[in-house]
Amino acid sequence: MSLIAIVGGTGLTQLDGLELTESRAVETPYGEPSADLEFGRFAGQDVVFLARHGKSHTLPPHKVNYRANIYALKHAGVSEVVAVNAVGGINPQMTAESLVVPHQIVDYTWGREFTFSDIGNVLHVDFSFPYSEGIRRKLLASAKSAGIPVHNGGVFAITQGPRLETAAEIDRLEKDGCDIVGMTGMPETALARELDLDYGSLALVVNMGAGRSKGIITMQEIETALVKGMGQVRALLAAYLTS
Ligand code: HPA
Repeated sequence: MSLIAIVGGTGLTQLDGLELTESRAVETPYGEPSADLEFGRFAGQDVVFLARHGKSHTLPPHKVNYRANIYALKHAGVSEVVAVNAVGGINPQMTAESLVVPHQIVDYTWGREFTFSDIGNVLHVDFSFPYSEGIRRKLLASAKSAGIPVHNGGVFAITQGPRLETAAEIDRLEKDGCDIVGMTGMPETALARELDLDYGSLALVVNMGAGRSKGIITMQEIETALVKGMGQVRALLAAYLTS
């Protein structure tokens, strides 16, 4: 039976409904993951949960130890990773509280530990299609069966953060063909590919990109959308894990 990992992002530091069997502190050659790996069962399915930003959300996107997280999941026997990402909307249809199952990535991050490749371990993984089509299809089918609207596909821009973008940067991302923007999709997705983990993302839009709504972006509007939208994310994950 495959072991599924859920990597929870902003607004998802625990998985409701998880019958916890073990909380495991792990050391990896790359250091410690963001939090203990939480092993358990969800409706009969073995699951591992990892809070990307730490259990108390203390790690900003550029301080997350993505390599330790992915290495720890791989060595825990995980074969399938569903990552949850809070994002800004660029595509006018991807408004606050929308869910998106992205199909592509443009990586704008820099200065992060982004690969397991090193001297003596030369890796040139194919990354033409960064997300597992199997996981994408399963997410879409689960959304349908749970009656949750989702956007099928979207180009996910990953920026360095932690600041939000300028309005001109959002215009540039749109010209580049991007639909949503977040800060944690990379290098996580590529590291999963390097370790041959099936990986998919479920993105929750929590604000419109800079310059795309009337005023500035406030933490309050983000938090409101997070609280409202995470209900749908949890319901979709439950449908996914029981499918
Ligand atoms: N930009 C980048 N990352 C984000 C945003 C945004 O507008 N909203 C949530 N994560």
